[in-house]
Amino acid sequence: MATSPRADTIAQGGDGPAPSGECIILGVTGGIAAYKAVGVCRRLVSAGFHVVPVMTATATRFLGEATLSALASEPVRKSLFEGAGPIVHTTLGRRADLVLVVPATARFIACYANGIADGLLLSTVLATRAPVVVCPAMHTEMWEHPALRHNLELLVERGVLVVPPEEGPLAGGDQGAGRLASPENILDGVTRALRRRELDLSGLRVLVSAGGTREPIDPVRVITNRSSGKQGHALAVAAAERGAEVVLVTAASLPGPTGASVVRVETAAQMEQAVLERAAGCDVVVMAAAVADFRPKVTASSKISKSEGTPELVLEPTPDILAELSRRRGNGQVLVGFAAETGDVAVRAKAKLQAKAVDLMVANDVSAPGAGFDCDTNAVTITGADGSVVEVPLASKREVADAVLDSVVALLRRDNPLPRSTK
Ligand code: CTP
Repeated sequence: MATSPRADTIAQGGDGPAPSGECIILGVTGGIAAYKAVGVCRRLVSAGFHVVPVMTATATRFLGEATLSALASEPVRKSLFEGAGPIVHTTLGRRADLVLVVPATARFIACYANGIADGLLLSTVLATRAPVVVCPAMHTEMWEHPALRHNLELLVERGVLVVPPEEGPLAGGDQGAGRLASPENILDGVTRALRRRELDLSGLRVLVSAGGTREPIDPVRVITNRSSGKQGHALAVAAAERGAEVVLVTAASLPGPTGASVVRVETAAQMEQAVLERAAGCDVVVMAAAVADFRPKVTASSKISKSEGTPELVLEPTPDILAELSRRRGNGQVLVGFAAETGDVAVRAKAKLQAKAVDLMVANDVSAPGAGFDCDTNAVTITGADGSVVEVPLASKREVADAVLDSVVALLRRDNPLPRSTK
């Protein structure tokens, strides 16, 4: 994807002001790392951004308000009830081209994930339609707490870009994960979030499938797999944010992402029907779902009891939805398959790409650390039918989704400079 002048400017460390003066709301919450927001603020201002600082009450205990006011483009704001007209949070939210929270405490993340508009900064992130970048910093115990992880997952699911903390010295002489990301990584997050606003899928229809199907043995038991559906849902969020009209056919029990029309299914047969019914009108179909390959030939209508002895399951193959899509596809439709593999991933992915006659095959080694099922991260290789190979090292599923969509956009641009669905 083309790099915007803005992105280049930030990547070069902010040498010289960029022309447009986009507005960044810089939120600072109450943690030791609040002082590091000052360095980030300086770099954003020298990169040409108009930086509006917002501090929470607790942040002012860690960082002098005067320091941030002096270095930002406007004085610090702290309250819903001061200056800038009667509705400060919506005014700020609408002005923002991006909201960046450095550092983000566990409390801020919990409130944001749960929609608690407690104070000016939380009200602003809930009121804005601009991209939001959150940079957590906290002690290791808090960083690893399931509640914090769950809240962050919710935010990522909704399209918030999280710049994860690093390992290193923490406050109080401790050492471990939770130290605020480096300024370079934070600025890189800003660049990526701004790039996401490029509506390069605008006017296109994208169908994404997600989750592991469940094939019933009886009314209680199913055959399923370990897929969480997170990668497919991240793809739907990313495609919607990039301007596409998105249909998500999902077998996962995750919340439906905003911006996508969601069709819930359970079995491979239901997924086949839902996908095939809708695929013809789509410019792009991404089969991220882990469709069961086999299902019980017969489903018992009542629960099988132990007293009946150990049942013998006879399986039959499910329809190969992707192969059928490939047979049916119209001119210009881009088909993307996923291959969760163990062992020789690259070779197996290439073989599948050819066997199913798709444009792109996204392969991951599910036995690799951080890239397996139910993780928040993934590492993939995107192989193209044209011989292209893009390696995406360990990254959040949202970032992997954007990398996959970058490859899709590259294909669409190559085949047709202005692709549009025929609605
Ligand atoms: N797929 C599908 N329908 C199926 C099985 C798989 O549409 N019944 C799709 C998946 O959504 C994925 C791709 O095919 O995009 C590859 O799935 P995978 O399970 O890795 O490959 P299979 O073709 O099922 O081969 P195998 O399980 O033997 O590796």
